[in-house]
Amino acid sequence: MTVLLINGSPHSKGETSYALSLVEKALNEKGINTKWFWIGNKMVRGCIDCGLCTKTFRCNFTDDVGNELIEAILKADGIVIGTPVYFAAPSGALCALLDRVFYAASTHGNLFKGKPAAAVASCIRSGANSAIDRLNKYFSFSEMPIISSSYWNMLFENHSPKGFDEMGHKTMQTLGYNMASLLNKKT
Ligand SMILES: Cc1cc2nc3c(=O)[nH]c(=O)nc-3n(C[C@H](O)[C@H](O)[C@H](O)COP(=O)(O)O)c2cc1C
Repeated sequence: MTVLLINGSPHSKGETSYALSLVEKALNEKGINTKWFWIGNKMVRGCIDCGLCTKTFRCNFTDDVGNELIEAILKADGIVIGTPVYFAAPSGALCALLDRVFYAASTHGNLFKGKPAAAVASCIRSGANSAIDRLNKYFSFSEMPIISSSYWNMLFENHSPKGFDEMGHKTMQTLGYNMASLLNKKT
């Protein structure tokens, strides 16, 4: 069983990656393998509603990582998407990509159905809940069971005014354990 950890930050080793690594540690402890997918910091296109994906289940734009992400999700048994909070939302680049990925794969083909999914957000102060809610919309649209933790899946940066986020660390760990528990029941 493999969970794909999708880093939706422009920083490959920033705070979002750190939050995902806490989920990863918990997954690995319970025998679940992990793979990483970083969306990068190059230009990504938004959906232009051209409708071509209704036939191919892939995006017609091939000059960014959209279709690679579809293939990576298809190979995974579960996914965790991480985002930095930008103005109380997921990063714009991540949403631009995911609109196309989920429109092509789910809206028309339902290709991700049944894969457990979760969203985590890294922030300085606030806005994580609305960012997580936004990402959960992709999963609930796609018949993907949303895995929960013991709190909402947010992590405050270590240098935030709130100091070391002990509860955030615990929340990421519990999320990993809960996803592992569901996946291990499937085997
Ligand atoms: C354009 C922009 C908007 C941001 N908006 C918020 C915000 O609304 N709330 C917040 O707590 N942090 C906000 N931040 C801070 C980032 O969410 C935070 O630094 C995050 O941990 C960065 O993660 P990364 O290192 O993975 O990129 C913003 C940062 C940027 C660049």
